[in-house]
Amino acid sequence: MDNFNFYSPTEFVFGKDRENECGELVKKYGGTKVLIHYGGGSAVRSGLIDRVKASLNAAGVSFVELGGVKPNPRDTLIYKGIEMVRANGVDFILAVGGGSVIDSSKGIAVGALYDGDFWDFYAKKLPVTKALPIGVVQTIAAAGSEGSGDSVVTKEEGMLKRDIGADVIRPRFAVQNPALLCTLPAYQTACGITDIMAHVFERYFTNTLEVETTDRLCEALLITILKEGPRAMAEPANYEARANIMWAGTVAHNGLVGCGRSQDWNSHAIEHELSGLYDCAHGAGLAVIMPAWMEYVVDHNVMRFAQMATRVFGCQMNFENPKATALEGIKAFRRFLHSIGMPINFAELGAKEEDIPTLVEKLNPGDGWGFVPLKAKDVTAIYTIAAHAS
Ligand code: NZQ
Ligand code: ZN
Repeated sequence: MDNFNFYSPTEFVFGKDRENECGELVKKYGGTKVLIHYGGGSAVRSGLIDRVKASLNAAGVSFVELGGVKPNPRDTLIYKGIEMVRANGVDFILAVGGGSVIDSSKGIAVGALYDGDFWDFYAKKLPVTKALPIGVVQTIAAAGSEGSGDSVVTKEEGMLKRDIGADVIRPRFAVQNPALLCTLPAYQTACGITDIMAHVFERYFTNTLEVETTDRLCEALLITILKEGPRAMAEPANYEARANIMWAGTVAHNGLVGCGRSQDWNSHAIEHELSGLYDCAHGAGLAVIMPAWMEYVVDHNVMRFAQMATRVFGCQMNFENPKATALEGIKAFRRFLHSIGMPINFAELGAKEEDIPTLVEKLNPGDGWGFVPLKAKDVTAIYTIAAHAS
């Protein structure tokens, strides 16, 4: 196991009706003037925004609001948010929504304390060192942004999707009421399930030896999702299934299951070019890319893939031919994704094979990094496998 620091300072406030506490939580973390930031309307329609406002009013915290965050959140709304923060003396951002709303909030929180263009951080021109405090009322289990130090934003001009990572953008608190997930469309539930599994796999495929504790934590999360995911798809209002998925989604991405081990993240980087170019859902893009990545790199460590196959997907170990077991596990993963309604190839996603050179050029992998460092030719091969998968 490698040396590590584990820092996850977010206060998770989990359970029924807990959104009614967000006013007191904002106060606890020093907020006096709040920007409520939300998406395209689901939180308004469900009455959640009204409950959040009532909670802020009850706590004597004043607020302004900015809705309209799109999935794959855009820089253009972040510029608007930064202006609003400055014009109204906002000192706390409250994200009410999913990964896109939370990531947009993080962009505003960073940009509001910087005199230049906030995109400088996403363009990696300088490191993120300060941000306004952020709180979250989470409405979808997927991206894990409620507990992560990451934000992924799309520059409208050129549809360039880029990320930042820093501990200062980890939310101070995240309200997690599983009942809020019950209004999710089936497709979004499935995208979330896929993203959660991908966050675990990005950590599971490691070159670090002797990491049984985190291996087993990863496997527990994956097995939980394989059971609870289909249950939530079949019974959208099942609180317990939603609760287990919601907590699994947070633990999958707050850093815990990646402690002390090298990680990969190539599937995420390769996917971000798809959701950048086609504006598809991140989880759907991962469903197409991640099994293709697995097939491409399987020979790097056949036994690790065979371990996934046997421990997570219940495949029988073939000791004479461990690669057969490894490939069976990858197949089982892809079959599961298809069974919950995810696309598994370019045509189903709405991507085009002739765009592969553009995707690779935008990604610009250089010498690569991760489980298997990937160069342009490798990324091209993975997109090509993904294009034709069945
Ligand atoms: O905009 P509204 O109307 O709210 O609708 C949203 C949106 O259309 C809808 N939705 C959310 N909660 C709902 C609901 N509909 C009904 N009932 C509810 N309770 O769901 C749609 C998708 O929302 P979005 O926030 O985009 O989903 P998600 O949480 O999957 O976030 C995806 C974004 O997060 C990024 C992705 O790249 C993508 O841009 N990621 C962020 C990460 C991070 N910050 O740590 C890590 C991830 O790997 C990921 O890259
Ligand atoms: Zn993800």
